[in-house]
Amino acid sequence: MSTHNLITGASRGIGAAIAATLAIDDIRLVALSSADGDLSDPATPDRLWRTNLDKLDGRIDVLVNNAGVFEGNPLDDPDADWLANWNRTIQVNLTASAQLCRHAVLHWQERASGGRIVNIASRAAYRGDSPAHWHYAASKSGMVAMTKTIARGYARDGILAFAICPGFTMTGMAEEYLASRGGDKLLADIPLGRVAMPDEVGEMARWCALEAPASMTGAVLDVNGASYVR
Ligand SMILES: NC(=O)c1ccc[n+]([C@@H]2O[C@H](COP(=O)([O-])OP(=O)(O)OC[C@H]3O[C@@H](n4cnc5c(N)ncnc54)[C@H](OP(=O)(O)O)[C@@H]3O)[C@@H](O)[C@H]2O)c1
Repeated sequence: MSTHNLITGASRGIGAAIAATLAIDDIRLVALSSADGDLSDPATPDRLWRTNLDKLDGRIDVLVNNAGVFEGNPLDDPDADWLANWNRTIQVNLTASAQLCRHAVLHWQERASGGRIVNIASRAAYRGDSPAHWHYAASKSGMVAMTKTIARGYARDGILAFAICPGFTMTGMAEEYLASRGGDKLLADIPLGRVAMPDEVGEMARWCALEAPASMTGAVLDVNGASYVR
C-alpha cells in the first residue's frame, strides 16, 4: 500500500530535499509552502490539515514538520516588537508543528492505523543560539521535547515520532547566517570542515519517515559534522 505524506516548508532548502527523497512511485506527497498558507497565522495549520487530508483521500501516514523561520530579535528592540517577534517565531516553528502533530495523532488514533512524525528541529535546541535568537533556540527545544512526549505517549498505538537536529545546512537560511557571522570562522568550528548539505538531511528524514525501526521512536538525530556532540 502506498504511503500518504504531508510535508511543510517544501518549496526550497531542506524541505525541498526531503520532498525529493519522497518523490518515489508508491508515495503520495503533498509538499506545502507559504503559498499554501502562512503558518504564523494560528488558523492556518488546522485548515491545512483538513484541506490536505481531503486531497489525500482521507489518509495521511507521515507528517514532516520542516517549515521554519530564523529571524533576528535584538534585545534592545522596543518591548512590543521584541514580544511580537518572539511570538511569531514560536508560532511558526513550534505551535504550528504542534497543531499539525495533534491532528496527526488524533487521525491515527481514530483510524487505529499508526503513523510517523518527523520534526526538523535544530542543533540550537541543545546548544542555544545567538543573543538575537532566544526564540529560535526555545522553539527548537520545544519541538524536541514535544517529539519525545509524542513518542512516549503513543508508541503503543504504533505512532512513532523522530526529531532531526541539523547544524548549519547549505540553504538560504544558512547562507545569510554565514555571511553575517564570517563564514570562515564558523567553518573552523565544524570538524567535518563543511556545513551539511540539504540532501543529507533529506536522506535522514526519508529514513525516519519510511524505514527507521519502531524501537527508535523518540530518537533525536544530529546532523552537524560533529560541531556539537552530546
Ligand atoms: N539551514 C540551516 O542551517 C538549518 C539548521 C538547523 C535547522 N534548520 C531547520 O530546518 C528547517 C528548514 O530550514 P531551511 O534552511 O531549509 O529554510 P529555508 O530555506 O529558509 O526554507 C524555509 C521553508 O519554510 C517555509 N516557510 C517559512 N516561513 C513560513 C510561514 N510563515 N508559513 C509557511 N511556510 C513557511 C518556506 O516557504 P516559502 O518558500 O514559501 O517561503 C520554505 O519552504 C527549518 O525548520 C529550520 O529551522 C535549518
